[in-house]
Amino acid sequence: MLHANENYSKIRASYLFTEIAHRVSAYQAANPDAKIIRLGIGDVTEPLAPAVVAAMHRAVDDEAARGTFHGYGPEQGYAFLREKIAECDFKARGIDVAADEIFVSDGAKCDCGNIQELFTPDVKIAVGDPVYPVYVDTNVMAGRTGANDGGRYAGLVYLECNAANGFVPDPSAAAGCDIVYLCYPNNPTGAVATLADLQKWVDWARANKSLLLFDAAYEAFIRTPGIPHSIYECKGARECAIEFRSYSKTAGFTGVRCGYSVVPKGLCAYAKDGSPVELRPLWTRRQTTKFNGASYIAQRGAEAVYSPEGAAQTKATVDFYLENGRLMKAALEKLGYAVAGGGDSPYLWVDVKSDSWKAFDRLLESANIVVTPGAGFGRAGEGYIRISSFNSRENVLEAIERFGKAL
Ligand code: MLT
Repeated sequence: MLHANENYSKIRASYLFTEIAHRVSAYQAANPDAKIIRLGIGDVTEPLAPAVVAAMHRAVDDEAARGTFHGYGPEQGYAFLREKIAECDFKARGIDVAADEIFVSDGAKCDCGNIQELFTPDVKIAVGDPVYPVYVDTNVMAGRTGANDGGRYAGLVYLECNAANGFVPDPSAAAGCDIVYLCYPNNPTGAVATLADLQKWVDWARANKSLLLFDAAYEAFIRTPGIPHSIYECKGARECAIEFRSYSKTAGFTGVRCGYSVVPKGLCAYAKDGSPVELRPLWTRRQTTKFNGASYIAQRGAEAVYSPEGAAQTKATVDFYLENGRLMKAALEKLGYAVAGGGDSPYLWVDVKSDSWKAFDRLLESANIVVTPGAGFGRAGEGYIRISSFNSRENVLEAIERFGKAL
């Protein structure tokens, strides 16, 4: 008899943002005249930068001629992009990452989800709470977590992120863990970690032979000087961390799909006998077996993000979203709400002091605004909603008006 992977029965029926999309569709179907403003999923609304569009047009033309046509690309990504990444995202900041430590992919979500395949089923995992659901759900699917008991998995360690700790947990909470997922600027709270915060984690990971999986998908939103853009700004991080990056929010690639991971040479896990096993060859093997690379056109578009025009244009778009966040944060604070995030992140984390799904329903029904209920990100998200700054200015100003009436 064919047996289904019963681990799937332990996760909620649908992915958080799929569940929200279903609820919103049902509401829209019942209320066809409602002008819904979507501040839920962090999906970009502004068009691609002109320099990126021009590069992608040129890439399409390459594909149209026999002499410049590209079929399968290198699974690790084209050298033209990996070299630009090494130079602009790392060397320019004084960070030691080489082009052959970079693995281009079709986005950070896939990499964050797939990386756990490199580790045994019994590794002990810690995640923040609240947390981006991909880190949890992929480990549930892999059978690493045990049953869900009241919204938490017995086999996971939850690192509470709350206003008291500035939404940055301390390594002492992760005693005995082999792998810790960290995301800064954080999704969903919008919090940033200082270099000292991250150095503590790196020191802890090195001392415990543990691994940090560092999601830096939102680094382009950092504006506060001194806030680290990469885990590799910490001393010793090459020995204990993998980093994930994405062009989705940085350059509006949620639909184009391109991102990358950094797996440094010499970064190791350990065999049962304690001998080191280098992770970079394992990830190379995994990617070459299961992945055929991001498209040539997407990678040419990503390369253009690093051109002087592309960098200026994409930065202007990120600044535009940050200004959306600043306007909404100011308005919500004026209404008396405590709001974390914004500033260095596209997300506002609003303390609504009530059941977060009820707040979601209230905002949808009375203001036709979609947000993300904090409880969808974990137990510690209860009492909060997450508001995304990705929208047009017109919709953001309209949302501010509606918040004033509904909250
Ligand atoms: C979010 O809203 O948390 C993100 O858009 C989800 C994602 O990047 O997959």
